[in-house]
Amino acid sequence: MEKKVCVITGATGGIGTAAVNQMVKNYKVLLSDINQEKIDVRVAELREQGYEVDGMVCDTSDRAQVRVLADKAASMGPVQGVIQLAGLTPAVAYFKDIVAVDCIGMMNINEEFFRVMERGGSIMDICSCAGHFFGEDVLPMDIFETALVDKQKFYDDFTELLADYGDDTAAAQMAYVFGRSFAYWYARKCAYPFGRRKGIRVNTVSIGFVKTKRTVDDYILAGEDPDEKIATQMSYSAFGRPGTPEEVAHVFEFLIDERNSYLTGCDIYFDNGCDANGYMGQQFNFDPSEITYDPENTSLLENR
Ligand SMILES: NC(=O)c1ccc[n+]([C@@H]2O[C@H](COP(=O)([O-])OP(=O)(O)OC[C@H]3O[C@@H](n4cnc5c(N)ncnc54)[C@H](O)[C@@H]3O)[C@@H](O)[C@H]2O)c1
Repeated sequence: MEKKVCVITGATGGIGTAAVNQMVKNYKVLLSDINQEKIDVRVAELREQGYEVDGMVCDTSDRAQVRVLADKAASMGPVQGVIQLAGLTPAVAYFKDIVAVDCIGMMNINEEFFRVMERGGSIMDICSCAGHFFGEDVLPMDIFETALVDKQKFYDDFTELLADYGDDTAAAQMAYVFGRSFAYWYARKCAYPFGRRKGIRVNTVSIGFVKTKRTVDDYILAGEDPDEKIATQMSYSAFGRPGTPEEVAHVFEFLIDERNSYLTGCDIYFDNGCDANGYMGQQFNFDPSEITYDPENTSLLENR
């Protein structure tokens, strides 16, 4: 049977590389990122291993380029999956660029792929636990709503708000956090119309911490010791270690799989329990083996 197509943006990044390795096993993969040379190297390598792949440069913040990417994907066969990983971090990016890629880029991808995908297709938009730090009482919900009707106004209003955070560093950090909150909100907004009109599913994965070159470099750029920082952050987690790109790639495959035909509008917290544990450690820890019960009366069913 002919393989369906899966498109991966940010495909030559740390997580993107693992996502490609996972998806090539069962899909024709279209790799997309911003550096032609890196794409060419990966495509050549994968073709040599016998996989059906193609590659294309696409800056996701540029609607015209995303349109070409979507058309290219559709020309390869039915598009089953889109794994949207293109993104910038505050350690390296200007705040306006974070909004352009993390927010506008994500909308461009969802909307252009809505146009070309068929019933049963599935989109995974990357999110972050940072996107859950603030509730709707703090988030600029009125600006978020604007995105559904006027992207330029959304971009202008959002960047104006972020500029008020003082210096560029603070603005970039807020652009990332609010931007990921937007990603979570927008993907959920997509679930109903995408499902109703074309049977396409839209879900997000909120990553806590997956160790990649980017995440380590970000700590170094901030003048911090990555090992120390990661150890502290992971001390609040269930397994005490960062996630791997391969582990999260497995979650993506699960979401794209057409057997998950009822799963839409969901967010998977991929954070090894950091959020459940309150990030800074639970106030009241418990030991499951020490919870007491009456050994004479182990069932609470009333025999009426
Ligand atoms: N690693 C983590 O712990 C973590 C946590 C939360 C969210 N995320 C998100 O997951 C994604 C992948 O993370 P990563 O650690 O592999 O980072 P990464 O920097 O290695 O990968 C991001 C990729 O996006 C590409 N990109 C940047 N701007 C682009 C644009 N305009 N158009 C297309 N592609 C563009 C980059 O070239 C890069 O290859 C990112 O969006 C990141 O913000 C990661």
